[in-house]
Amino acid sequence: MSNNYTQELKKTAQSMVVEGKGLLAMDESTGTANQRFEKLGIPTTEEKRREYRELILTTPNLSDFISGAILYDETIHQAASSGIPFIQVMKDVGMIPGIKLDKGAKPLAGHPNERVTEGLDELRDRIAEYYAMGARFAKWRAVITIGKDDANKNIPSQGCIEANAHALARYAALCQEGGLVPIVEPEILIDGDHTLERCYEVTEATIHEVFRQLYSQNVAFDQMILKPSMVISGADCPMQASVDEVATATIHCLLNTVPAAVAGIAFLSGGQTIIQASAHLNAMHVMFKGQCPWPVTFSYGRAIQEPALEQWKGDSANVDAAQKLLYHRAMCNGAASQGMYQPDMEKEPVGTAR
Ligand code: 13P
Repeated sequence: MSNNYTQELKKTAQSMVVEGKGLLAMDESTGTANQRFEKLGIPTTEEKRREYRELILTTPNLSDFISGAILYDETIHQAASSGIPFIQVMKDVGMIPGIKLDKGAKPLAGHPNERVTEGLDELRDRIAEYYAMGARFAKWRAVITIGKDDANKNIPSQGCIEANAHALARYAALCQEGGLVPIVEPEILIDGDHTLERCYEVTEATIHEVFRQLYSQNVAFDQMILKPSMVISGADCPMQASVDEVATATIHCLLNTVPAAVAGIAFLSGGQTIIQASAHLNAMHVMFKGQCPWPVTFSYGRAIQEPALEQWKGDSANVDAAQKLLYHRAMCNGAASQGMYQPDMEKEPVGTAR
């Protein structure tokens, strides 16, 4: 697909995955943000969510390692306490604003225990509004569950994979038509006791189908970012694969499924610990240096935010300390995206001063 935005889309996509940087996912829906706040006793108000997002976006020097951040609809309309809109706060420090466009995963009719992501209705108009506000990329997350349906048959079903891949492709084509770089996110959930091998099988089948659908909807691969989950053992699998096994299985799977023209790969963390998320990304770079046709980086949510949120706890007195932790995780993952992460970087979180 070629349109008025082609050059801009290519440039944006390349900037999102520029060497040494990755993306920050801070697009939790109100429900998800509130759940995380509740666990820490933080009031679940719009103002507290705004304060937290301000803490993130005003972290000194965050753009050293973060090329862009994915916002939620509530956040993109909010401003810092200075009155400067968050979109402007980001642009002022060279971070590209992105927006979550999907409306969440809903039960897929006829497929017990499986879900399909909704949000295609009126999407063209929503894209135009967000573009006018200054967003330059977008995200749509599909979720694929590994497990069993009610009749004890293995899932995911082909029907679920196809429905989600089709929606991702329709979304991606609309984004490119409207000037937003689509992040295409098919997440294979870590939940369950499945093995690394089963995760490989499901990830491979899903990404194959996603690219089949993207091709059929005329999506330009060099103007999109793929946001996959890593090929990893299920959280409850008794045999947990090693860091090198995860890195190897993940890169092999992507080399077998992702066209070389794709502008970049930016992983989600998907419930891995903060250390695992850094170590896995790092190992991919150390073990496969020079072998991948696309930039490989991160688009983490929890694996960047978690320590900062726990430090903040909703108290303004903790903002500086929380920002230091956020900067530190961004730095560790920036290093991992170049194969330069070292475990001793975890010993003492460095401050934001250079
Ligand atoms: P996690 O890194 O917490 O999985 O979040 C990334 C994301 O954007 C999920 O949609």
